[in-house]
Amino acid sequence: MNIAVVGTGYVGLVTGVSLSEIGHTVTCIDINEAKITKMRQGISPIYEPGLSELMLKNIEENRLFFTTDHTKGFNNAEAIYIAVGTPEKDDGSADLTYVEEVAINIATQIRRDTVVVTKSTVPVGTNHKIKDILNRNLKNDVKVNVVSNPEFLKEGSAIHDSFNGDRIVIGADNEKAGDVVEQINTPFEVPVFRTDIKSAEMIKYASNAFLATKISFINEISNICDRLNANVEDVASGMGMDKRIGSEFLNAGIGYGGSCFPKDTKALIQIAGNVHYDFELLKGVVNVNQKQQCLLIDKLLDRIPNLKGKRIAVLGLAFKPNTDDMREAASIVVTKRLIDEGAEVIGYDPIAMENAKSYLRHEMVYAKTIEEALENSDATLILTEWEDIKNIKLNLFNTMNYPLVIDGRNCFSLEKMRGQKVEYHSVGRPSIHYNREKLNI
Ligand code: UDX
Repeated sequence: MNIAVVGTGYVGLVTGVSLSEIGHTVTCIDINEAKITKMRQGISPIYEPGLSELMLKNIEENRLFFTTDHTKGFNNAEAIYIAVGTPEKDDGSADLTYVEEVAINIATQIRRDTVVVTKSTVPVGTNHKIKDILNRNLKNDVKVNVVSNPEFLKEGSAIHDSFNGDRIVIGADNEKAGDVVEQINTPFEVPVFRTDIKSAEMIKYASNAFLATKISFINEISNICDRLNANVEDVASGMGMDKRIGSEFLNAGIGYGGSCFPKDTKALIQIAGNVHYDFELLKGVVNVNQKQQCLLIDKLLDRIPNLKGKRIAVLGLAFKPNTDDMREAASIVVTKRLIDEGAEVIGYDPIAMENAKSYLRHEMVYAKTIEEALENSDATLILTEWEDIKNIKLNLFNTMNYPLVIDGRNCFSLEKMRGQKVEYHSVGRPSIHYNREKLNI
């Protein structure tokens, strides 16, 4: 099938490339000329394992095209995917300006019956608004239908997730339009769930809010474990064996970040508020997450009450491993707090340092290697569980002024750390002390 995808951000690009891989002819459209030029050569603007390879393959096989020209992109498209951003507004609600602009663009340019497929995460009711905009602005005598088809891709494994998803949700009020989208997706061989448009829109928010709830829940349990000297990892494993709970998304840490959970949880609180419902539970989830991001600072201040002039190494800057994405990363909040406390910060990340500079340009010194970050530092905070960091040679911690390691992602087993000359604090697990009095400055 001939498909156009508007927006080549994370969602749009992965969607376009995956659809071309299953045999469709896909044109990806973006207003950013420089980005389009690069993508035509198979250069991905984002770091995502496997994406560049699939881009190159499908470009070479003439199934994947990139353009800034909407008319050219829409020409002959049987389905047009909307995958532009819906950034968070100051009040937490989703900004729909870009989605609405695309809808007007589609309406004024299409010359054949078209199914418009919304991939962007949009508040419940938006697809009906999109349909209104489309119908009000149509220039030619054609029929247009709207289908909600939310994405559930995780950054860092987005390509894998496209081909191995748990479900594809298709929300349509027009059965035929829903059938078209189901047909497009058939080669993925992923179970399809059909519903109405509003329910599909809600599935996306409810899924992300539920996962965020699971994370905040285990983080609160971990804080209680901390105080009781229990081990949250064992607690999570024991809980996860109950199929009703499930073992995923029970990793305690320093909270969730990224482009989805923080934005979508706040948007759902707004969506509920708009229909006069106070989503108390979700408000709690958001508050817990904000506090959790600063957990390591509290643990550090507990050990070094005065951080003035202290050199603090921060390992891992991206919001999670296998991505260069810095959006809502705990490293931003943590670094700013360290600076406020008078510390000097030296940071390291295997992939995200370039992106980090647009969030934290002057706040930290960037180390080229883990070794450089650790040397002579007074404490190390671990914020992202990159493989590089998990596989660090533990004796490197002994190049620090004092081997105080505070791990926000439980990268090392307690067993392993017990044998080291390191003072080790993690999340929801008993601390390992080493020469404690040396730090009591
Ligand atoms: C998420 C959803 O998983 C995906 O379905 C949706 O489409 C977009 O949002 P993503 O933001 O890429 O995907 O990352 P994910 O792997 O879900 O992690 C989100 C955040 O939660 C990260 O900061 C991660 O560190 C944190 N997290 C995740 C935990 O703290 N504990 C966990 O057990 C799992």
